[in-house]
Amino acid sequence: MKTSPLPLPRHVAIIMDGNGRWAKARNLPRIDGHAEGAKSVRHAVETASRIGIEYLTLYAFSANNWARPSAEVEGLMSLMVDFARTECAELRQNGIRVKVIGQTERLPQYTKDAVNELVSATVAGEHMTLTLALSYGARQDVLDALGILAARVKDGSLDPSAIDETQLRAAMTTHFLPDVDLLIRTGGESRISDFLLLEAAYAELLFLPTMWPEFKPETLYAAIDHYRGIERRYGLTSEQIQSADSRTVPSLVRAALG
Ligand code: FPP
Repeated sequence: MKTSPLPLPRHVAIIMDGNGRWAKARNLPRIDGHAEGAKSVRHAVETASRIGIEYLTLYAFSANNWARPSAEVEGLMSLMVDFARTECAELRQNGIRVKVIGQTERLPQYTKDAVNELVSATVAGEHMTLTLALSYGARQDVLDALGILAARVKDGSLDPSAIDETQLRAAMTTHFLPDVDLLIRTGGESRISDFLLLEAAYAELLFLPTMWPEFKPETLYAAIDHYRGIERRYGLTSEQIQSADSRTVPSLVRAALG
């Protein structure tokens, strides 16, 4: 039976891997790979916005990346600042609202300032939400949210029996994001690496051999086409999915679960 293509993914998340290997293959320092990767960030943002993706989330710096050599960490922090300063006007003009997730309080002050300025300057953007995961780890995000809920239980404002998934997710730094529809990882490895573990529970996963600095607009177009040709079943049968409008599938699943 022929299936019609899925609508566009509403939320695309990307693990931007392969900067270091791209640089090594060219006998360049790793930071040059990250700088080239920052150009791919521009391609990805422009293309996602042009396609009509509502939410684009980029894994820019993981909680584990703090353990990298200090020169590389500082180089990455400076690249974030450059990005925030050079892209601000265009992002604003294109209606792109920038948000951040993760333990952003751990960032050095100069990076925090530049990123906060970018977030404030673009707050009115309604065309697309670009979320930068900075000092982010999904397990830590869950733990921090549990800490918030535990404090509320302690001060008497939350009844432990009222804690459910909605409460937990509302306390996470990802609270404003819808679930991920398409999760892309470049760099040839097939891992999720502590990225959006709850939010990507039903995401389509796409692992690409392309190194992140080689990610071009066409790479994203091809990824979206691939996604749209895939039937997502959410644990249901093909027949159930085909009899429902694909946008309503999550509510169909809720109904099926009672
Ligand atoms: C992983 O590649 C990538 C990172 C740790 C950093 C990603 C940062 C950028 C793309 C540039 C700056 C970002 C913004 C938003 C301006 P890797 O170093 O682990 O690559 P490898 O696996 O080949 O060593």
